[in-house]
Amino acid sequence: MMSNQTVSATHFSELKRKIEQRQARVAVIGLGYVGLPLALLYSEQGFPITGFDIDERKVSTLNAGGSYIFRITAPEIQRARHQGLTATSDYEQLEKMDAVIICVPTPLNEYHEPDLSYITGTAESIAPHLQPGQLIILESTTYPGTTEEVLVPILEKQNKRGLKASRGGENDEDSFFVAFSPEREDPGNQTVARRDIPKVVGGMDEKASTLASALYSAIFNRTVPVSSPAAAEMTKLLENIYRCVNIALVNELKLLCLRMGLDIWEVIEAASTKPFGFHPFYPGPGLGGHCIPVDPFYLSWKAKQWDFHTRFIELAGEINTNMPYHVLESVGRALNRHKKAVNGSKVLVLGVAYKKDIDDLRESPALTIIELLQKEGAQVSYNDPYFPEVGRGRKYDLQMKCAPLDNLAQYDCVLIVTDHSDYDYEQIVRESNLVVDTRKATRGIQSDKIVHC
Ligand SMILES: NC(=O)c1ccc[n+]([C@@H]2O[C@H](COP(=O)([O-])OP(=O)(O)OC[C@H]3O[C@@H](n4cnc5c(N)ncnc54)[C@H](O)[C@@H]3O)[C@@H](O)[C@H]2O)c1
Repeated sequence: MMSNQTVSATHFSELKRKIEQRQARVAVIGLGYVGLPLALLYSEQGFPITGFDIDERKVSTLNAGGSYIFRITAPEIQRARHQGLTATSDYEQLEKMDAVIICVPTPLNEYHEPDLSYITGTAESIAPHLQPGQLIILESTTYPGTTEEVLVPILEKQNKRGLKASRGGENDEDSFFVAFSPEREDPGNQTVARRDIPKVVGGMDEKASTLASALYSAIFNRTVPVSSPAAAEMTKLLENIYRCVNIALVNELKLLCLRMGLDIWEVIEAASTKPFGFHPFYPGPGLGGHCIPVDPFYLSWKAKQWDFHTRFIELAGEINTNMPYHVLESVGRALNRHKKAVNGSKVLVLGVAYKKDIDDLRESPALTIIELLQKEGAQVSYNDPYFPEVGRGRKYDLQMKCAPLDNLAQYDCVLIVTDHSDYDYEQIVRESNLVVDTRKATRGIQSDKIVHC
């Protein structure tokens, strides 16, 4: 009979061997903006991949060789299907998997507090099917402590065999391995290949770290091990808070520059020539996306448990949240110059995605700006090559259709909210009566129709 120690060595070394030989069966749970590209990367490297999602529409689209994410083409899905990629919503299939990577959403609830229901829901679905020796990795952005305080207790309590997370003991015959590894992708960024973004990995013990690093080494050029899941969770939050705070800083300085008659963009460009100690951030109409407006509040919420107030986060939140209101005021002032009021004016919003050249609307400041303009009585239309229509989301219900760009003279104001590369800004300025530009998209174009804000 094998000793416990031999069995434990078998779980760890067997999975390591399978990973190194690209035989490990990898499950990706949550096939959204993060999970689907991840599944495709593993598929390209020859791993047998199964994607899990509760959204049946996504599952059937993928299985039919189609895509629902703009920058992922149907032929890419078909190639992966050919390599063996399948999608399912049947959690029973997890029993056959060696490694499970969780990429489910982590939004805020209506009180601006972390909504971990997707993580707990996923953990509850995994637990009954958990197998000894499986590697479970959480990638969803969250506060430090989530993996060990929320995910692991559910997996441990609700699995049928009494399996425990491996915590550094020799004997892990009845164990599974757990790590946290944040997703650090920058959607739409063409300058850095995904495999060149180093992957931070924090395992609950040495074995989990080693296995998770081995798994990610197959698709990333470099992995960066840290001492714990909480350190990896905090790393991701530091990165996003750094962005959020610095964007708030330039947004505030932009408001000052506007008052002083200075061009913040010119100032940032000049400051960027300093070869050290300065990293440029750019102002805009407000924060958007699933990360920067949301993630910092995961930390400020958690900090309260430690009687700690994260003042930078609160201040940055206040400044950034105010930006759409600044845009509204600027449109009002610009129309005023033409002896018009917001009430009754026709306004075309250019770009509703939260940033240029992507098909993601989440937390987009354009949605708030449209609602604010409508509240003031403006007749608002929008154009965005990535969105033929904007229906209903978690916090909005606009029911609008993309307006064509062929008769810009009909609008009292064209408001550039998202500076997609597809737009011909010279033509837009030429054909419009008034252009309010929140992104400096019209740089280099001389016209008194343009108002920067
Ligand atoms: N999108 C980004 O650029 C980005 C970048 C870095 C980190 N993140 C983080 O990654 C995580 C995922 O983000 P995303 O943008 O991919 O979200 P997403 O909404 O695009 O995708 C999440 C997917 O999970 C599915 N899902 C929800 N609950 C499920 C469950 N119980 N079982 C199976 N599937 C389930 C949803 O149907 C959806 O398809 C979040 O924590 C986010 O903060 C996102």
